[in-house]
Amino acid sequence: MTALYCVFGNPVAHSRSPDIHHAFAAQRDDDLRYEKREAPLEDFAGTVNAFHEEGGLGANVTVPFKEQAFQLCDAVTERAGQAGAVNTLWWDGDRLHGDNTDGAGMVKDIRDNLGWAIQGKRVLVLGAGGAVRGVMGPLLAEAPTLVRIANRTEDKAAILARGFMDGKNPPVLGGGLDNLTGQFDLVINAISAGLHGEMPPLPEGLLAEDAVAYDMVYGSEPTPFMRWAKQQGAAATADGLGMLVEQAAEAFEIWRGWRPDSAPVIGGLR
Ligand code: ATR
Repeated sequence: MTALYCVFGNPVAHSRSPDIHHAFAAQRDDDLRYEKREAPLEDFAGTVNAFHEEGGLGANVTVPFKEQAFQLCDAVTERAGQAGAVNTLWWDGDRLHGDNTDGAGMVKDIRDNLGWAIQGKRVLVLGAGGAVRGVMGPLLAEAPTLVRIANRTEDKAAILARGFMDGKNPPVLGGGLDNLTGQFDLVINAISAGLHGEMPPLPEGLLAEDAVAYDMVYGSEPTPFMRWAKQQGAAATADGLGMLVEQAAEAFEIWRGWRPDSAPVIGGLR
């Protein structure tokens, strides 16, 4: 019987997840169908339950439902707990499980696909929204020297940073964009204006020698953040297409029990 999965979002029409999961499944003739499901803003829970009754085995969750998905789960993984958000759902009988694969996907893309070191590096994260919360746990687990979170609304960065200061993690510092100082080896952009808008003004000289720059969003052209980083002398820049595929691969493995090969899928999407 064909296994049924979907992505819940609103809007969801733009999602590339069906293409990605169908490409994974084709690698082993795994019989699955993956659909886009637009959930109404006021009834995410009802939509998820109806999908399960229809025979759905699991789902991805995108904007704006990741926090609601977290609330809905009967059990979540540790990294989903840290993120306070869930992007991957699956049922075990009637028990709903949740994970967050975004951070692992980003780390895998940066470390393995791009070959950029995180361990021992000074990391600057731009933005302090849900996307940043979702990746902080896996990022810190890579043992950077420090992580500085800089955000337009300074308080949000400070609160987010405090939540990850537990004595075991590398130091996490939160602050504003205006008063940002220091030099960084890896800069990660999660300011959502990033794709079409322009970068907010940032101080000169943030990039250390050989610094690299990663944008969590992706596009057919270099993003404004990638252009900014190049102008600032970055040794390399990348967008988040690889992260998109890697977070999907991580979800696929949870659902199907085997790890798809992400490289040809990233290449195909490009
Ligand atoms: P996401 O899920 O993408 O993280 P979000 O939670 O809405 O979405 O967070 C958006 C992030 O982009 C925030 O860090 C936001 O800054 P504020 O917290 O100050 O709102 C940032 N952002 C959006 N537009 C921006 C802009 N024009 N200049 C600077 N930062 C911006």
